[in-house]
Amino acid sequence: MLDLKMSKSFFIYTYGCQMNVHDSEKMLGTLEKAGYAATERPDQADLIIFNTCAIRAKAEQKFFSQLGRTKLLKRKNPHMKIAVAGCVAQESQEEIRKRAPYVDVVLGPQNIHQVRNIFSTPRQIFIEENPGIALQEYEMHRQSLSRAWVSIMYGCNNYCSYCIVPYTRGREISRPSKNILAEIADLKARGYREVTLLGQNVNSYRSDRDFVQLLYKIGLIGLDRVRFVTSHPRDLSPALIQAIDEIPCMCEHLHLPLQSGSNGVLHRMNRRYTYASYREKVFKIRDHIPDIAITTDIIVGFPGESERDYEATIHAVEELRFDGIFGFKYSERKGTRAAALDGQVPENLKTERIQRLLKTQELITLKRNQSLEGSVQEILIEGPSDTDPEMLMGRTRTNKIVNIRNSGEREGTMLTVRIRKGRQHSLDGDVIPG
Ligand code: SAH
Ligand code: SF4
Ligand code: F3S
Repeated sequence: MLDLKMSKSFFIYTYGCQMNVHDSEKMLGTLEKAGYAATERPDQADLIIFNTCAIRAKAEQKFFSQLGRTKLLKRKNPHMKIAVAGCVAQESQEEIRKRAPYVDVVLGPQNIHQVRNIFSTPRQIFIEENPGIALQEYEMHRQSLSRAWVSIMYGCNNYCSYCIVPYTRGREISRPSKNILAEIADLKARGYREVTLLGQNVNSYRSDRDFVQLLYKIGLIGLDRVRFVTSHPRDLSPALIQAIDEIPCMCEHLHLPLQSGSNGVLHRMNRRYTYASYREKVFKIRDHIPDIAITTDIIVGFPGESERDYEATIHAVEELRFDGIFGFKYSERKGTRAAALDGQVPENLKTERIQRLLKTQELITLKRNQSLEGSVQEILIEGPSDTDPEMLMGRTRTNKIVNIRNSGEREGTMLTVRIRKGRQHSLDGDVIPG
């Protein structure tokens, strides 16, 4: 008789930051290695995993509503297992148990290696601290064949007063440099062209080497491009600026979250720098590397943010002329220090403030993109453009999107282009035959 035992299938929903995207690649790889099969169809899966984000209330709500819809699938297929992983899993296991008793497994970000046991364990919660995480090596199923994420450290010790991450990802811990270097050398051997190093605050990377020493070592591997996210402005050192300048593969892009232009707000956010010191660093970086693109994160409506504080942020954005900003309305996170502060800002005022902030930046981004018209840029092709299959999309070293005519180049090809037009969200380019 035929063996009818087919391999079980799973589907992963991913929310949140690059770390979660990469954690999903680890879970996918681990489950496939254990003999399970990924499926495109959640309604046919034996296991559904939610890799969740808790950074703002909205991200959490998105997950909870999808979870509610999935409950109906489970009603039709009672053998289906549901697992909640990621930052909400770590922070809100009680709430998940209460709101969704049909969830079988809860799996925090420090315990994703346990994913291989989900099928064989009954209901279970994996949220204990895992100091071994820095030594954990994973099977990974990467989404791209040319660009790869590489974790260099886990957790965060900064405790910015608004932020849930130190509670969900645990204490800061760095991977040994030899593991990181081996992973990157292997990627290079398999034809990868770009690596993005991941950590909540890469400047505090510390194992047998510090971050700058690690970058020089990575520079010797011979990749085309290396990036990192995210660096904390307080710890951005002259040595790091020099490293970006000197090491050929280091891309001319820095994401440097400012959060606010007001010293009072920065202090209450526990950011431990002033606007003047941030500004100084930006000027210094641009002095050394004039073509560098700098992007940032801004929060409006932090508790106690006055009209004057807000104007200071607008002033900062106008003065520093970022290449792009990610703007957020402050979202209260239970258990953080900011949640206990007086002076919560009403929602409609937050909305007004974010709208004007984004409007102010829009024009700056457009002007900066237009200033690139006529320049020659190297782009790494990612694939057909999202909006127009006749076009191909690639990225500059400064992380800007460039659209070119589709002449069939594959993902991972490097091309030289001349920028014809700068737009709000992208650039148009023409290939310079080479
Ligand atoms: N470790 C990274 C940030 C991770 S979170 C860093 O420090 O740069 C990404 C961004 O989300 C933060 O920079 C901040 O701007 C925003 N953010 C974090 N907590 C938030 C909250 N409670 N409300 C609104 N935005 C928040
Ligand atoms: Fe959150 Fe601050 Fe840590 Fe970034 S550095 S993850 S904003 S606590
Ligand atoms: Fe990332 Fe969201 Fe967690 S931003 S670290 S997945 S709370």
